[in-house]
Amino acid sequence: MTKRSPVINVMVRAADRAARGLKRDFGEVSALQVSRKGPADFVSIADLRSERVLREELHKARPDYGFLMEESGAGGNQAGPRRWIVDPLDGTTNFLHGLPHFAISIALEENGEIIAAVVYDPVKDELFFAEKGAGAYLNDRRIRVSGRSRLADAIFGTGIPFKGKGGEQQFVAELGLFMRHTAGVRRWGVASLDLAYVAAGRFDGFWERGLEPWDIAGGVLLVREAGGYVSAIDGGRLALDGGSILAATDTLHRPLLELLAEPGKAAG
Ligand code: IPD
Ligand code: CA
Ligand code: CA
Repeated sequence: MTKRSPVINVMVRAADRAARGLKRDFGEVSALQVSRKGPADFVSIADLRSERVLREELHKARPDYGFLMEESGAGGNQAGPRRWIVDPLDGTTNFLHGLPHFAISIALEENGEIIAAVVYDPVKDELFFAEKGAGAYLNDRRIRVSGRSRLADAIFGTGIPFKGKGGEQQFVAELGLFMRHTAGVRRWGVASLDLAYVAAGRFDGFWERGLEPWDIAGGVLLVREAGGYVSAIDGGRLALDGGSILAATDTLHRPLLELLAEPGKAAG
């Protein structure tokens, strides 16, 4: 068990309030599936509502912090050292299709470094959080990355490109490598939870291209505080806006880099 710090409490309170709205709206989505208009507009309203609640709560508690939010972009005090990086609904496509797997992700950045993170899955009531130097937790129990050391025993999360995203061929080549060398791949459609699952030892690693800062800011700290390693896919330093990420246990990170680095392997 852990005692949550004041800043984690602020983030959890905000996530809780936004989650109440999302859960209510998620209940409505199934009903809207059958209507002719479909639920798409309704879902974008749910998204915006969640973001508004998060902005209000976080601003009330820490009025001098800035924001980077998926829907409204940069806001608040951009001149100060701290800003919140927020995805108010990660897994919109799941939500829209009535799939009960989505999350709220809140990260706190200080001078360019993530120092606190909350990723909350309202349907499963799983609250992942971490603070720099204080470990990663799931519902107040300490979590760690898995102890698996062989690619052949390990499973991995990823994201599959969809219409308009690009990168299909590269993805198919990479998937081929994982099919040949690992125990399997999952695509669950919520990057923040994919990273949280690496932190909790459920996945042994995760890779994806074309992500945005709010998709990964929270999850990256969870993985690091759970003893894992995070970089760009080419092994370079992770940039939140760099678009590619490879997260894994300390032991598996290097073999994965090698796997992904060989163009010959990826092609054949
Ligand atoms: C998406 C999810 C998904 C990833 C997409 C993201 P959204 O975020 O994180 O797992 O593959 O690239 O855009 O749009 O549901 O917030
Ligand atoms: Ca997202
Ligand atoms: Ca989103």
